[in-house]
Amino acid sequence: MDQGSENARVAVEVEGLRKAFGAGDTRVEALHGVDLKVEHGEFLAVMGPSGSGKSTLLHLIGGLDRASGGVVIVGGEDLASLDDDSLTLLRRRRIGFVFQVFNLLPILTAEGNVALPLVIDGIDEKEAARRAVAAMESVDISHRRSHRPSELSGGEQQRVAVARALVTEPVLILADEPTGNLDSASGDHVIAILRRLADERRQTILMVTHDPRDAAAADRVITLKDGRVADEQRPPERRPAEDGLREFEGSR
Ligand SMILES: Nc1ncnc2c1ncn2[C@@H]1O[C@H](COP(=O)(O)OP(=O)(O)O)[C@@H](O)[C@H]1O
Ligand SMILES: [Mg+2]
Repeated sequence: MDQGSENARVAVEVEGLRKAFGAGDTRVEALHGVDLKVEHGEFLAVMGPSGSGKSTLLHLIGGLDRASGGVVIVGGEDLASLDDDSLTLLRRRRIGFVFQVFNLLPILTAEGNVALPLVIDGIDEKEAARRAVAAMESVDISHRRSHRPSELSGGEQQRVAVARALVTEPVLILADEPTGNLDSASGDHVIAILRRLADERRQTILMVTHDPRDAAAADRVITLKDGRVADEQRPPERRPAEDGLREFEGSR
C-alpha cells in the first residue's frame, strides 16, 4: 500500500511516545517510547497492570496532557504543533471521552448532559437537542432523556456518558475503564454498544480495561508493561487473513 492510502486509514498514530512526571527524586517515567497505529473504525483494547501507563497513554492521545517526547497524530493533526487553544478545540470537537466515573452534571437532564458539548460550542439549542436525542437513540437511552443522573442506574448513566462522547461525531472515542463501576450485565451492554459503534458507524475506539471479557470484544488488544507495549494479540473471532498476531486468550 502506498503512503497516502495507508495514512487515510489511520485515525491515530503514536511514535516513540514518552512521558515523565516530576523531576529529580520524584521523577516518574510513565511511558518509555510507545509506538501505535489505530485504523479508522478499529476498536482497540489497552490492558496492563496498574501503573503501567494506560491512562497516561489515553490522556496524551486525547490532548489532555502534553508528551515529554515523541509524536501523537490524531485525525491527521500533530498534537505537538497545536497551541493550547487549538488543542482544546480538537479535544472538544474531534475526541469523545468516557471515564470510569460518569462525570454527568447532576442538575441537567440526561438530554441536557448529552447536548452540553454542542451548546458549549455555540450550536443553537434546538439543533443541539435534536442531535442529543439522535446520539441517545444510538446507545439505547433516549427513553430516559428527561431523567436526571440521580434517577438513572449506573449502566444508564454510562450510556448517557457514551452518548455525550458521541454527540460531536468525533474521529476518536477514548474510554478509560468504562465498565469499572458497573455490574457485569450493564458492563456487557456498554461493551456491546462500543462494538456496534465500531461495526456500524466505523467509529474508532480506544478502550482501557482490566477485564479480559471486555477486551475480547475488541479487534485488537495491546498490553502495556512499565510504559511500553509488551504484547499485542487479536481475539479469535476478530482475526482477518493471517496477520501474524497471536490469539487473545480472554473469552466472553
Ligand atoms: N499526574 C501525575 N503525576 C505524577 N505521576 C503520575 C501522574 N499520572 C500518572 N503518574 C504515574 O505514572 C505511572 C503510570 O500511571 P497511569 O498511566 O495512571 O497507569 P495506569 O492507568 O496503567 O494504572 C504511575 O507510576 C503513576 O503513578
Ligand atoms: Mg488508569
